[in-house]
Amino acid sequence: MPSDRFRGKKLVIAWRVTEACNLSCHFCGYSSIMERTRTYASSDLALEFGQLLREYRRRQGRDVLVSWIGGEPFLWPPLMDVSHHFKHQFKLHVSVSTNGIMPTSQGHRERVIEDFDEMTFSIDGRAEFHDAVRNGSGIYEKVRSTIIRLSELKSKRGIGPLIRVNTILMHDNVHHFERLCRTVAKWGVEELTFNTLGGQDRPEFFPANTLTYEDAVSFQQELPRISKQMASLGLRIHGSRKYLDKITASAMGMKTPIHNCAPCRNFLFIDVNGFLGPCSGLANSGSGISVREIKFPEDLQALSPKFNYDRSKKMPVACGDCPSTEFFGKFADPIENPEAMLQCVSIQ
Ligand SMILES: C[S@@+](CC[C@H](N)C(=O)[O-])C[C@H]1O[C@@H](n2cnc3c(N)ncnc32)[C@H](O)[C@@H]1O
Ligand code: SF4
Repeated sequence: MPSDRFRGKKLVIAWRVTEACNLSCHFCGYSSIMERTRTYASSDLALEFGQLLREYRRRQGRDVLVSWIGGEPFLWPPLMDVSHHFKHQFKLHVSVSTNGIMPTSQGHRERVIEDFDEMTFSIDGRAEFHDAVRNGSGIYEKVRSTIIRLSELKSKRGIGPLIRVNTILMHDNVHHFERLCRTVAKWGVEELTFNTLGGQDRPEFFPANTLTYEDAVSFQQELPRISKQMASLGLRIHGSRKYLDKITASAMGMKTPIHNCAPCRNFLFIDVNGFLGPCSGLANSGSGISVREIKFPEDLQALSPKFNYDRSKKMPVACGDCPSTEFFGKFADPIENPEAMLQCVSIQ
């Protein structure tokens, strides 16, 4: 089932629930070898806000998808209980992004099947590449086995989350993208998303591993063909033309300032301390609003005009090179008009 089931008109909320991680990926600021804060989100706050989202959903007649991210969300002790509550008591849709290193018992898998609507697993390439950039041997094999077992259990039970893979495009894996897609399609993965390597947190890794302009252009040209082939194998690849243009612009070193992203209308980000904004850039920057201040569904409705007004007074630094992959269409479906993706358009 496609992710449009939960996205599109739905309100999507990405919530960072922990800064802790059990891996030490070379490209990531949450790597266990980095000296940094390792805060965990408050489960009481999550449950309080979940109640409010239930009321918002009921009054607006609008579905809400809450997507846990980290660090590694499976290290957040209340993850399973809070997810259960969100899905079954609050009637929210629940998603999680994970490195796939998680409890492997049958009982845990059963709970996962019951309590999540989507699961996104990170895979960055074939086994040697994945283990090299994620800095440990056997990591690829663990995530492979988790996905296959989950997929089998889903088929057996006839329920369970949509299984998605997210991959980071880098100079040394982008030309193996098609092979990766074929491999994960065989495991039962239904959707694949991609993003490019960000360099802010690990500037030492970035220069040798980021996409070149040639990499980005060749990816943009190949993707429509790959998307069509993968659709025939049951794997939907997401990403809009605007998103591909953003990737190419970044590979050229160009910034993409955005003057009106319709903040907080369809997407919210909440950081680990409970600050909310239209994207991670604003939630973390001091422009974020504490979730504790959002007491009624009307307060959620008021966020968009508030952030618009604030921006009219002073454009936030983050908007000078918008970091929101959601805004550019990471989850859009390119299959419907693949030819259009080949035309080059300039970004706003
Ligand atoms: C921060 S991780 C958190 C979830 C989980 N620990 C994981 O690895 O999937 C969320 C996503 O960001 C991606 N990511 C991490 N560092 C990145 C970077 N420097 N550039 C682009 N994507 C990155 C990961 O691959 C993952 O798909
Ligand atoms: S990408 Fe995920 S698994 Fe890797 S260090 Fe970052 S948070 Fe941890």
